[in-house]
Amino acid sequence: VASHDHLRHMDSMAQLPFGAGKISHHNAVILGEAPASEENDLVFPNAEFSKKALVSSPEKYMEMYKRSVVDPAGFWSEFASEFYWKKKWVREVFSENLDVRKGNVKIEWFKGGKTNICHNALDRNVEAGSGDKVALYWEGNEPGQDGKLTYKELLKNVCQLANYLRHVGVRKGDAVVIYLPMLMQLPIAMLACARIGAVHSVVFAGFSSDSLVQRIEDCKPKVVITCNAVCRGSKVIHLKDIVDNALADSTKNVDSVDLCLTYENKSALSREETKWTKGRDFWWQDVVSVFPTECQVEWVDAEDPLFILYTSGSTAKPKGVLHTTGGYMVYSAITFRYAFDYKPLDIYWCTADCGWITGHSYVAYGPLLNGATILIYEGVPNYPDAGRSWDIVDKYKVTIFYTAPTLIRSLMREGDQYVTRYSRKSLRVLGTVGEPINPTAWRWFFNVVGNAQCPISDTWWQTETGGFMITPLPGAWPQKPGSATFPFFGVQPVIVDEKGNEIIGECSGYLCIKTSWPGALRTLHGDHERYETTYFKPFPGYYFSGDGCSRDKDGYYWITGRVDDVINVSGHRIGTAEVESALISHPKCAEAAVVAIEHEVKGQGIYAFVTLVKGVPFNEELRKELISTVRNQIGSFAAPEKIHWAPELPKTRSGKIMRRILRKIASKQLDDIGDTSALADPSVIPQLIALCDH
Ligand code: WTA
Repeated sequence: VASHDHLRHMDSMAQLPFGAGKISHHNAVILGEAPASEENDLVFPNAEFSKKALVSSPEKYMEMYKRSVVDPAGFWSEFASEFYWKKKWVREVFSENLDVRKGNVKIEWFKGGKTNICHNALDRNVEAGSGDKVALYWEGNEPGQDGKLTYKELLKNVCQLANYLRHVGVRKGDAVVIYLPMLMQLPIAMLACARIGAVHSVVFAGFSSDSLVQRIEDCKPKVVITCNAVCRGSKVIHLKDIVDNALADSTKNVDSVDLCLTYENKSALSREETKWTKGRDFWWQDVVSVFPTECQVEWVDAEDPLFILYTSGSTAKPKGVLHTTGGYMVYSAITFRYAFDYKPLDIYWCTADCGWITGHSYVAYGPLLNGATILIYEGVPNYPDAGRSWDIVDKYKVTIFYTAPTLIRSLMREGDQYVTRYSRKSLRVLGTVGEPINPTAWRWFFNVVGNAQCPISDTWWQTETGGFMITPLPGAWPQKPGSATFPFFGVQPVIVDEKGNEIIGECSGYLCIKTSWPGALRTLHGDHERYETTYFKPFPGYYFSGDGCSRDKDGYYWITGRVDDVINVSGHRIGTAEVESALISHPKCAEAAVVAIEHEVKGQGIYAFVTLVKGVPFNEELRKELISTVRNQIGSFAAPEKIHWAPELPKTRSGKIMRRILRKIASKQLDDIGDTSALADPSVIPQLIALCDH
């Protein structure tokens, strides 16, 4: 193992003069100054920071990293032992096979161990004396609207809901769908499910009712938890109406969900104004508060399911990524601690919504397992103006701020004055996730937001990985803006070519992972075959991430983005097939082909080519209808930037749409269309080009 390419690279890095104790503080980066070359652009950690960091030097990292890959069982079981186990596991990595050629892929960590993640996140911290520490700050949509819960209070709230859920018949292994915005009730609901061994499936509250139907039909929950409405900036969104529609529509294929627990979010909508189905709908405030504030924990096996989270794939049907309890618990906690150099006095704010994996691992579980104080914010970053984020940072004295490149780019556009009018003195560590961060945005985040004092953890990972895979460890390494740097402990990235051969040294290719790590997804809910086909068949012997990646001369990893049919819009994964199937559902649309285009703020945007049913004219009204069809079927975040009417789509003689050509047309690279000789009818191309600005 020690002969691994990246190990060798890192060995040579560790010998460079900026090793432990010698790290010099020079702000190599000056705002606006373009580096000679990205891979030579090193940003050195501040010596004071490094001295106090959990991993203070490249040597220390190498020592831990080597141990983690040479003896994963020993390495991870030491961390696992920090948590409470009702019964110890039988073996750390009980069974593992990532090679489909050798039979079914099976990953298990800490099998036979009995534990509970809610107990470890709450009771254990209360018992350790942190009961009066703030667990959760909540900032409402309106400035001045806020709340907080200590660990003790959070535990009580979770217990009441857990008791209620048990009372209404939710048992270990039952699914519960949670469709809530960023209210305190969202983490409370997740933890309450975990406490009684129920499997939560949080659906991002920006998803449409049709998307909710798909998810309900797939995981068949006993209960749906929602709220009546939410304010996002100056808009009020009636979430309960969306749930009502979804429940009405999903009764066809499931025993109908007979219970919808609804939190009354008074500042958005009163109960009198909320539509109500008697006998099915219950107000959270009325029914939950009567239950005791203590609730017995359901001890579950380390490999019992904790949650299902749906994500996009290459077909229109979303994939139900399933995570289990023990490995996920250890992995989310330890990655959080190291990648953000967590210290007990930190105030941590991750801007992600709990409806995505980032909210699961790094709003809720990872930080709470470490006894951290977390902050959640109900609203949007530009309300009442573009300075809101920094207003919040100052108000709560946030020390660790974790967000998405898209947010950085959108705030960057508004101008520095929105940032500099706030102090931001408390900030210590910054982080980004969800999409590649361009060096310009990195530099702005570093210089303007962080005053050139805070390391940035550019964390590469996925819904499927459960936690960070490639990430800087603040203080340990010099950073390169735009690079996610090096693998986390226990993670062995490999870059392979088209044929699946591992490439070494400086190279580009497909990013795969060798061997398992504790936070890995175990299956896709109800479809183990799709799990194997998607992740393990493309390059047998490895987990395939779906991302492209390059490794530079110093061993730094640079993620280049998805290489499959997934588009990353503002850090949200959207399958081209999902958007196409939504478009085709419109009665006037005959065919659709969707490609990604570059987008200044969102990273990528959706560009849709559509052919229409014979005789139907393309006009502004139809364009709007098509876009709203996508909004209604998936969610507003998936709305195409552009609808391009195509009398015909470019197809090969066997009828395959040539997306390569569509991508060129969408990105206006018209002089560089490439070889069109395989097309059944090449005259389609000039026709399409002529309609570019239609
Ligand atoms: C992309 C989000 C570059 C990548 C945690 C991945 C990134 C997909 C980064 C997963 C990063 C995530 N740099 N690209 N730091 N982080 N990605 O499942 O394409 O919503 O495959 O998980 O986001 O998105 P998901």
